[in-house]
This record gives sequence, structure tokens and C-alpha cells, in this order.
Amino acid sequence: MARTPSSRSPATRTPATGPRTGKVPASGAAAPTSAEPAQPKANPWGPAVQSEGDGRILVGRSFLGRSEAAKAGTSAKDEYLTLRLANRHGLVTGATGTGKTVTLQVLAEGFARAGVPVFAADIKGDLSGVAALGVAKDFLIERAHEVGLTYTPDSFPVIFWDLFGEQGHPIRATVSEMGPLLLARLMGLNDTQEGVLNIVFRLADEQGLPILDLKDLRAMLAEVAQSAATLTAKYGNVSTQSVGAIQRQLLVLENQGADKFFGEPALNIADLMRVDRSGYGTISVLAADKLMGAPRLYACFLLWLLSELFERLPEVGDPDKPKLVFFFDEAHLLFDEAPKALLDKVEQVVRLIRSKGVGVYFVSQNPLDIPESVLAQLGNRVQHALRAFTPRDQKAVKAAAETFRPNPDLDTAQVIMELGKGEALVSMLEGNGVPSMVERTLIRPPSGRIGPLSADERAAVMAGSPVGHIYDAPIDRESAFEMLQKRIEEKAAPQEAAASDGGGFLGGVLDSVLGTGASAGKAPSGTARSGGRASTRMTTTEVVVNQVARTVASGLGRAILRGILGSIRR
Ligand SMILES: Nc1ncnc2c1ncn2[C@@H]1O[C@H](COP(=O)(O)OP(=O)(O)OP(=O)(O)O)[C@@H](O)[C@H]1O
Ligand SMILES: [Mg+2]
Repeated sequence: MARTPSSRSPATRTPATGPRTGKVPASGAAAPTSAEPAQPKANPWGPAVQSEGDGRILVGRSFLGRSEAAKAGTSAKDEYLTLRLANRHGLVTGATGTGKTVTLQVLAEGFARAGVPVFAADIKGDLSGVAALGVAKDFLIERAHEVGLTYTPDSFPVIFWDLFGEQGHPIRATVSEMGPLLLARLMGLNDTQEGVLNIVFRLADEQGLPILDLKDLRAMLAEVAQSAATLTAKYGNVSTQSVGAIQRQLLVLENQGADKFFGEPALNIADLMRVDRSGYGTISVLAADKLMGAPRLYACFLLWLLSELFERLPEVGDPDKPKLVFFFDEAHLLFDEAPKALLDKVEQVVRLIRSKGVGVYFVSQNPLDIPESVLAQLGNRVQHALRAFTPRDQKAVKAAAETFRPNPDLDTAQVIMELGKGEALVSMLEGNGVPSMVERTLIRPPSGRIGPLSADERAAVMAGSPVGHIYDAPIDRESAFEMLQKRIEEKAAPQEAAASDGGGFLGGVLDSVLGTGASAGKAPSGTARSGGRASTRMTTTEVVVNQVARTVASGLGRAILRGILGSIRR
């Protein structure tokens, strides 16, 4: 499966789960005996317990006071993330270059080893290295030694995704799935315009017109503009200016490349939850370097994904380990300028998704980037160094320090400024969910490579991926755009249309599918699109009938039920 450059051998695998399952010995006598030649002399604290088998992920080792205490001989303690409490979410913060991405990699690797699939956005491309065997550089061997490990390279099963379909398999959603609330945010619409967008969705629902891609949305907007007067009477004010404004924003969205994202085949979340043959959870890495140029698309996409997970996954309460862990890098983008209604939704999704067994880990520079109501739900914390050049910085440091459960032996605010690279203040949930006292911790080195894959390596991973055949080719089936166009054509030929169309447009579609014969010989021809749609897929009429049947069955009439963020609940 997706692993480069050399595939994992049992020999590289064993140390990760094998010999280190005992407790930390009391003294240094039991230092690793099978150390590679480059391994420094025995660590006075003995080997760390590096076992996902006992329900924990080793994060690092803490030393009282400064990390140099490792050499000075004061007490030490291993820091773990408890898998059972990993769905109580987490936060990784710190200034640029302090070790956030490496910490993210360490956590992702730990989850993968424990068989938990991970989804993570890769802002700078430097998380991609997790697919390749780590390289035994001196500083990694040294760090491994300091935390009581033998540096052991490993590689992890990775699936690369990309909203633009360049650096990974295309990841898509339909416009309907995204729903009006997120779409309005994506386009920066005001309240009036958002109201009009809601009417567009409502009309599409009522008339059974699937809005799959931006072309469909554009066609629906044109339709709404044309019937503005009638619609205003029925739904309230639909001004053509508002429609025009939405159309202009749609153009901006298309120019940002969002047209590649909206469409089919839409992402099936089961493909984010794969476990490979050796039992490792798959790490889905979303190429986000280009996406950062379209921050709203980035934020809305990840929010959509969270709400999808929330809506699709069954309740599991508090499982032994999470079903999926989601890392949300540059998390401040989610909250910057977000309207209150959306913030409330984010808070709600984060709170409720826990019982679906999904852990959400935000990564950002400062904890204050995250609204209080969300921050309060992030139980597992890693705080890397913050700089404090200005009085304002100092205030931020103090505030960050105050988010931790204090440790009488540490001046948290002072330590935040002193932390070295790959060193952090760590507080994890323990026992029945109480945060541990904050500790100054050396983060363990990751086992995969640090830094980006080369283009060739990435291509090799993608070529071996289990999902390429599902997502690489787009599908463009008959939907609102084509259906509306057909309507116009039918209007242009009134006599024939009147002769066979007894129940209006939708009636015709239903007739043809249900075989009632009223529209015999006039069945939608969506099956013959030039794009070469797979014959096993549902035709549009089947989609419409399915939607109608399901919503009628649930007693809600024809309108499609919308979920927590206004996206369609299937
Ligand atoms: N746990 C660690 N063990 C060994 N080295 C580390 C560790 N963490 C960080 N480093 C070193 O620090 C460098 C910078 O870390 P990293 O890329 O994670 O920083 P960052 O906070 O993500 O920076 P940015 O904000 O620029 O993305 C790494 O390339 C690595 O050399
Ligand atoms: Mg980084």
C-alpha cells in the first residue's frame, strides 16, 4: 500500500510494539542493550515504554525544571496520550519553527500504530515525510536517547488528498452536501444574500434538482433571477441584485479553483477510515499549501468534513481508542471573522463528535486563537515555545500559561519563553479525564522522515494508493444544470411538451422512472453523457426518486432534510 520508499519490514516494525512493553525501570541499569553503534551511552532514566499496545501513545519525557535536568539527574516522567481519552480532543500550539509539525507527526504516528486512522492537513508539505522511513540523523538519535528510546525508523501508510487534484487524489463534495450555511460563508455573503441562497436550495429540493457542482448552482441562480417576482411572493424578497452579487462571488470561487472541489465522485468518509494489512491506521494527508491561498475554502472544507463525520458516524460513546483523529492545522482560519452562528455550530460539532469516537486536534500559534467555548473542550495540550518580544506578546504568553493546570515546581509563563525546539509544556488527560499537571517535556522524535517527500516519492505513494481508481476521474452526471436546460428546450417546443407532460417537470421525471408511461419515450437521457458515466451509478432520476422517497417516508414532504450545518443528511 501507500508507503515509500522501501516497504516496512517486520524488523523495523518490531521495536515499535515489541520489546518496550515493560514499565520504566527505576534506574539506568536497564538501558537498551541492542543499541545501534551510533547510540550514545545509557540514558540514566532507562528505556521509555513505547507501546500503543497498552492503550497509550508516548509523547515524550518530562524533567523537573529545565530539560538539562536530564543530565543533572533530577526526576523524570514519561508523558503519554491515553487512547481512551483521545476523543476528548487536543491542542498543539507554539511559535513558528518550535516543533508543532513534528509533534503532530509524533501523535499521528502513534495513532497509526495503534490502528487509528488519522486525517491531517499538511500546510507546508512537510508532513508528507511520514510516508517514508525516518533517517537516523544524530540529533534524532540523541533525542531518542534523552527520552529513553532507541531510534527506530518506520514508515506509515499514507493516502494523499488534494482539493485541486494535483498533489493527491481529488477530494470532492457536492454543493448540496456543503449546504447553504457553509457556502454562504465560503462566498462571504451578507444576510440578505444568504437568505436568497437558502431559497435557491429550497427550490432545488422542492423541484428535485440536484445541485452537484458550481455549474448547477449557477443554473439555479439564473432560474431564481428569472422567476424573482413569483418567488418573492412565495418566499419573501428575492432581489436580482442579491442574485447578481452571489453570481459574482461564485466567479471568485471558481477562480480560486473551487470548481475542482465541487462535484462527483464525492468523498466517502469510509476511505478516510482505512486500516492497512499490518494493522496500522492510514494517515490521510491533505495537501494544503495551495489551499492556504484560499483560506475560506480551507476552513469551510474542513468544517464540512467534520460535520459529515458527525452526521455519518454512529454513536459509540467513549471507545477504547478513537475511530478517527482529525488534525486541524492553522486552526485560527476557522475562527477568524466567522459569524456567531457559525462559531456556535463549530462549538456544537466539536462537542458532539466526541461520542462518535472522533478526536479533533487543533494546531495553531497561540491558544488564544481559539474561542473560549472550543478551547474548553480541548483536553490534551502541547504548548511549544512562544516568543515574547512586545508587551502584547507577553500578555499572550501569560494567557497561554493560564490555560494549564499549574505545577508548583514550574513557572509556566516563564518556561513557555525558554522552551527549546521540540520541547513543550505538556498536559494530558488522565484517569477519568482530569488534565495532568503541566510538565516541561522533551518530545520524542518521530519514526517516519522529518520533512517533505520528493515529487517522485509522492507520485509512487499515489500510484500505489487504494483509492486512486475511485476518485481520480471526475463524473459529471445529469443534475440541475442539464435538467433546467431541458426545461428551457421544452418550453421552446410547447405543443409537444404539453401533450405528454401531465404532472409538470418533476411529474415527468417521476413518471418516466416509475414507469407510469405518461412520459413514455421522453425519459431523461442523462445516461448518455459524453463524460462516460459508469453504468452502475444512479441516474439523476433515481437520485431524485430516492430523495423524494426517503423524505416522504420520513414524513417531511419533498424537502430534503438538512443536517447540523445545513448540508444534506443522506
Ligand atoms: N521532537 C523533536 N525531535 C527532534 N527534533 C525536533 C523535534 N521537534 C522539532 N524538531 C526540530 O525542529 C524543526 C522545526 O520543527 P517543526 O517543523 O515541527 O516546527 P513548526 O512549529 O511546525 O514550524 P512552522 O510554524 O514553521 O511550521 C524540525 O525540522 C526538527 O529539526
Ligand atoms: Mg509546521
